[in-house]
Amino acid sequence: MSDDNKLFTTGWKDYELIDAGGNKKLERWGDVITIRPERQAYFRSELPFDQWENKADLVFEETGKKSGKWKSISSKNVKDSWSIKYNELTFLLEPTKFKHLGIFPEQRTNWDYLKQHISEGDKMLNLFAYTGAASIVGKACGADVTHVDSVKQLITWARKNMEASELDGIRWVHEDALKFAEREVKRGNKYKVVVMDPPAWGIGAKKEKWKIEDQLPKLISVAHRLLENRGILILNTYSPKVDLKTIAGHVNPLFEQFSLQELWMKTKTGKYMFYGHLLRARRK
Ligand SMILES: C[S@@+](CC[C@H](N)C(=O)[O-])C[C@H]1O[C@@H](n2cnc3c(N)ncnc32)[C@H](O)[C@@H]1O
Repeated sequence: MSDDNKLFTTGWKDYELIDAGGNKKLERWGDVITIRPERQAYFRSELPFDQWENKADLVFEETGKKSGKWKSISSKNVKDSWSIKYNELTFLLEPTKFKHLGIFPEQRTNWDYLKQHISEGDKMLNLFAYTGAASIVGKACGADVTHVDSVKQLITWARKNMEASELDGIRWVHEDALKFAEREVKRGNKYKVVVMDPPAWGIGAKKEKWKIEDQLPKLISVAHRLLENRGILILNTYSPKVDLKTIAGHVNPLFEQFSLQELWMKTKTGKYMFYGHLLRARRK
């Protein structure tokens, strides 16, 4: 397998991608081991599934296309929520009916990148910010962080992550990401860093429809207008409808010095998992 244009992100002490295959992945979050569905794991797992089941505490069973439930399969009494550390930061985890646990561990590479590029007092905007891992990393670096998400419960979760990490002062915005960003342009506000992690599809706080293939060009151009001269844009996409060439087409006229790569993680057992596309760019 060629590693050209692939960025490998890694686990850390409290998170490990142990194995993947058969449309599932085996992961460790602190001392809790989970099995959950993973479309990208279309190959054979390295370890047989009975070994996975011997190791795992929780398994996600799909009941519908987008939902399901977690089943306990070990004698360990896993709590409804627990926390893991990333360096000095704390992230709260909770098995959700959407199969997620509250962080996207592959984003670790962006947390490290932010740490290298943020200075005290920089303004950072996190759009589609979920439970706020990037917002909290930014805040821990001394940035003035604005966090935008359309789901109220996720803003509450992000606030708990901030408090558990013994930080404060993040500005919480419960709004449609694109609408808020456009309003910020009108207000003349500027940011040193814009991070955005748009889903393939989503719904704004007032039921606005988000479809990445239709709205990505607008989002990139709004981000360009929101950034200070030489400001940094970090963009993740997961949708198969948006490939590297499409992203490059939207970004090239407005940004420079960018790296645009596939994001991958290797399992402890040596399998390769694809996690989407990652752009890092500097405003022209
Ligand atoms: C893929 S997750 C982001 C993951 C996050 N960056 C991380 O690594 O922790 C996408 C987020 O976008 C939010 N979302 C979906 N549609 C939205 C919209 N129109 N405006 C704002 N947020 C939206 C969802 O609530 C969800 O939290």
